[in-house]
Amino acid sequence: MPQRSLSNEELATKIDTSDEWIVARTGISNRHIAADGELTSDLAYNAAVDALASAGLAATELDLIVLATATPDETFPATATKVQARLGVAGIPAFDVQAVCSGFIYALAVADNFIKAGQARNVLVIGAETFSRILDWEDRTTCVLFGDGAGAVVLRAEDTIEGAGCEQRGIMSTHLHADGRHHDMLYVDGGPSSTGTAGFLRMRGREVFRHAVGNLTSVVIEALEANNMEPEAIDWLVPHQANQRIIDHTAKKLKLPAEKIVLTVGEHGNTSAASVPLALNEAVSDGRIKQGHVILMEAMGGGFTWGAVLARW
Ligand code: UT7
Repeated sequence: MPQRSLSNEELATKIDTSDEWIVARTGISNRHIAADGELTSDLAYNAAVDALASAGLAATELDLIVLATATPDETFPATATKVQARLGVAGIPAFDVQAVCSGFIYALAVADNFIKAGQARNVLVIGAETFSRILDWEDRTTCVLFGDGAGAVVLRAEDTIEGAGCEQRGIMSTHLHADGRHHDMLYVDGGPSSTGTAGFLRMRGREVFRHAVGNLTSVVIEALEANNMEPEAIDWLVPHQANQRIIDHTAKKLKLPAEKIVLTVGEHGNTSAASVPLALNEAVSDGRIKQGHVILMEAMGGGFTWGAVLARW
């Protein structure tokens, strides 16, 4: 996350809001804001370097980079290619995935399919955003909710061990959905082909909330059913960190106890495609997620898009 943090109290000195309102409605206390000149590719690069170090992999061993973002440095080229250049691995494919808050889930699914199709062995998957640049800082209904950040993972192909079944580590299944009829509920009111400007985020919060709980619950059930698993089999739910109330409502519907949920939204707000890897990073770093644990990642965002990934860590 960028160094600069912005608390609810500080926000309340600039717009008509309060720490009490923001915490009660969202669980968010703080968010991080990129410095002037600090770009999505900078956050993405830092996360990529950390992920490669953690995986014990040299950048030269990568054969694909997939970067999820809705706030690219520029309309084109893909921010993934800027990260690639800084990593010094020219030649391998690198591209962005645009599914807003579901971006990391979509990017994981893309990477998993490249690996399972035999077209890549080592894939860097990044979620990176600077949503502070597309917020209308005078709109208190949206600007209090979002923040900047990045997270990354390395997916690595490993040969199948006979008879090991689903006990093997890695992604078990991915589940993606979209419904473009709901464009107007969550969108940015600008773009290269429409206004020629970057635009600002617009949202109908109540409707998004209702759809989020329904779609996330159903996609988690879909992922479990596809793997013949009951909710009790999940060691950790790593949800999109948009709003604690959405996470609580979804967990209640799934009858998942709070102790199995990774919750980091309070510290960084909704960082869109960066939120799932930021939460994953925290729970892996502090030792909660251990090798062999079953983790279920899910997200929902503008489009609408939504999805889930079931994996064994
Ligand atoms: O990836 C998905 C991303 N989207 C989301 O996560 C958003 C999902 N939606 C939500 O989380 C909630 O709808 C919000 C947190 C955005 C809003 O909560 P709500 O309970 O749906 O509130 P509301 O929009 O119905 O507004 C209630 C009141 C209004 O005042 P009146 O009309 O009742 O007098 C708003 O003007 O709260 C007021 N309000 C605020 N007050 C203080 C709205 N924003 C603020 C604010 N501070 N920041």
